[in-house]
Amino acid sequence: MTQDELKTLVGQAALAYLTPGALVGVGTGSTVNKFIDALAGMKDRIRGAVSSSEASTQRLKALGIAVFDSNEVASLPVYIDGADEIDHQGYMVKGGGAALTREKIVAAQSERFVCIADESKLVQTLGAFPVPVEVIPMAVARLSRQFAALGGSATVRTKDGAPVLTDNGQQILDVRGLKITDPLAFETRVSQWPGVVTVGVFAHQKAAVCLLGTASGVKTLTF
Ligand code: 5RP
Repeated sequence: MTQDELKTLVGQAALAYLTPGALVGVGTGSTVNKFIDALAGMKDRIRGAVSSSEASTQRLKALGIAVFDSNEVASLPVYIDGADEIDHQGYMVKGGGAALTREKIVAAQSERFVCIADESKLVQTLGAFPVPVEVIPMAVARLSRQFAALGGSATVRTKDGAPVLTDNGQQILDVRGLKITDPLAFETRVSQWPGVVTVGVFAHQKAAVCLLGTASGVKTLTF
């Protein structure tokens, strides 16, 4: 099976985790797009979605799925999202699509994080994928020095020669060369640095379940 087919498989498998008549938290990315497409087939059985990005909102609305503001909702039974890396404890690196801040917000208001990913995302230790960090632009140089002191190398994410701006109007630093052996401590520490909006390590908002697309079908990992 191709990586795209594995993403379709886990996107469809996530439908089993929805609560009938309730809202669902929806992440961002190519795997989540497969989930949104599958969700369209049963949109009448859910109330709607809380979305983690403008891109997902657009896709949901185009398929006739109602999108609610996160401020209108106290809690969600489930949040479905992909990951750039997930380890055997359910800790993740996320933000490859620059949506990490809103993803963390919706994950935090959800009772259960169901991660959908193809098997290439499963790792022993987080950090081979450059860790995305959403930052306030005036803090870029200082934060880059702080990551260098941890052994990392930070670069501003660009597209067509200009910094990528998030849905919140901020920039992304991609940090290479880190080996994150204690994701909880790393997230806690970096989150406190002035100028950091969100660090793309999801340890406090880790996955409860991972639906992993493998050559032999969907493997369910629980944490
Ligand atoms: C977006 C994310 C995505 O979940 C992550 O990048 C995985 O994306 P994909 O499903 O396209 O591989 O965190 O900010």
